[in-house]
Amino acid sequence: MKRVAILISGGGSNMVALAQSMVGDHKARPVLVLSNDPSAGGLTKARDMGIATAAVDHREYGKDRSAFEAVLQEKLEEAQPDIICLAGFMRILTEGFTAQYEGRMLNIHPSLLPKYKGLHTHARALEAGDKVHGCSVHEVTAALDDGPVLGQAQINVLPDDTPETLAARLLPMEHKLYVEVLRRYAAGDRSLLKISG
Ligand code: GRF
Repeated sequence: MKRVAILISGGGSNMVALAQSMVGDHKARPVLVLSNDPSAGGLTKARDMGIATAAVDHREYGKDRSAFEAVLQEKLEEAQPDIICLAGFMRILTEGFTAQYEGRMLNIHPSLLPKYKGLHTHARALEAGDKVHGCSVHEVTAALDDGPVLGQAQINVLPDDTPETLAARLLPMEHKLYVEVLRRYAAGDRSLLKISG
């Protein structure tokens, strides 16, 4: 059975979807939910699901990313994960950290990569007049939002969409995509998955 650690910064809806999916014949189980924000709503949801949680407050380390990541790594080493899922984890990780987990760390990003790496993806897609938008699950490498894409989910952009309505309509597709990609990944399948909503 593969051990999965999930890193979050906020409400954790992707984390909940992943954790709820890891049952039955799934090849993985959640062993830790870890946040850079001790007040993240997702930590409470994880505890309610009976999953171990931990928090490392990045604000205590100022600009010293390596010091923050060293403690993050300690928490991860205690849990001994085989796979790490970044799920709404909003801290940029250094190459030193990503290199430790390369080939076993995934991230969900709310755009059709390689389009719109970074922030404000919904507003940028609308500004560009895109007719379709979506999300991607990729393996994490040193370059932000740049690793091999393992899955994409696509939705249509509606004439009266705002960044908020687009984000709200995309979130359930993020959950569906991340759950399916993790199931395949835990079973050793890294082939590209495409779904549309
Ligand atoms: C999601 O849209 C994810 O793509 C982005 O942050 C949001 C987090 O949502 N990185 P949640 O915390 O999983 O609900």
